[in-house]
Formats: sequence, structure tokens, C-alpha cells
Amino acid sequence: MTKLRKFTHMIVKNLIDMAEIARKNAYAPYSSFSVGAAIRASSGEVYTGCNVENSAYPEGTCAEAGAIAAMVVAGGQKIHEITVIADSPYPVAPCGGCRQKISEFSSPDTLITLATTSGIKEVTTIKDLLPGAFDRSFMALK
Ligand code: THU
Repeated sequence: MTKLRKFTHMIVKNLIDMAEIARKNAYAPYSSFSVGAAIRASSGEVYTGCNVENSAYPEGTCAEAGAIAAMVVAGGQKIHEITVIADSPYPVAPCGGCRQKISEFSSPDTLITLATTSGIKEVTTIKDLLPGAFDRSFMALK
């Protein structure tokens, strides 16, 4: 049990490091708020993303969206765990759109680690961040 806990901690720490590396490449000249994200897919592979802003402000994309796109283009469709990091006074809350995007590729208990560059860490789940999420079941897809 102790061993498992240690291992889980290692995984989380490693994802934070990966998200921080991605954050350093953020393109955020308008908000000056750089965000990084790292996904561990169910395959074990890690995919990262950063926010990419645009002079036409609504065209900017969040770090989480970039990481999800990287996972999907590589053939992954299941988020095992995701970490988001920013240089904020407390762990950054993923925006509503990103909660929905994460939800699409998650299970209700998928872990989301929110981290700050100063070392504060909060671990939550997608079901806590987006209760009552809209999903394909509402469309009764065949
Ligand atoms: N941002 C993210 O990339 N992820 C979040 O979870 C919150 C916000 C970005 C979008 C924009 O480029 C900047 O942070 C300020 O809103």
C-alpha cells in the first residue's frame, strides 16, 4: 500500500513537471498568463499542451485543449489523469469549456491535479468539477 502510494505520487509529480515544461512554451502575449497541461492517457503515454492566444481574442485556445488534441492525434481517447499548472496565487480552475472537453475523454473519477508554479497542489475529479455533465447518453446514440 505504501509502495503504491509512493508510486502514485511519483506519477503526479512527473505530470506536474511535464505540464510546467509545456507552460514555458505558452503563447500568451495578451493575458501574460501562461498555462501548461499534461495528460497521462490510459496507454501510459503523456501528452502536453499550452495556451495559445490570438490577437482575435476568442480564437485563443487553452492549455487543456492543446493537450487533448495532442492525445487524440496520437490515437489516444482516454484520459487517465490530467494536470494543469499556472503561475497563480492558488491552483487555477479550468474554464467551463475545458471541463466539458476533459469530460468527453474521462470517467467520472478521472483525477485532475491543479498546481501552481510555487508548489501548491489540489487534486480533484472531473465529476466534482463538472457535476451533471452533458454527455452522449442524452442523445441516446446507437
Ligand atoms: N487558460 C488556460 O489555458 N487554461 C485554463 O484552465 C484557464 C485559462 C488560459 C486562456 C487564456 O490564454 C489565459 O489562460 C487567460 O485566460
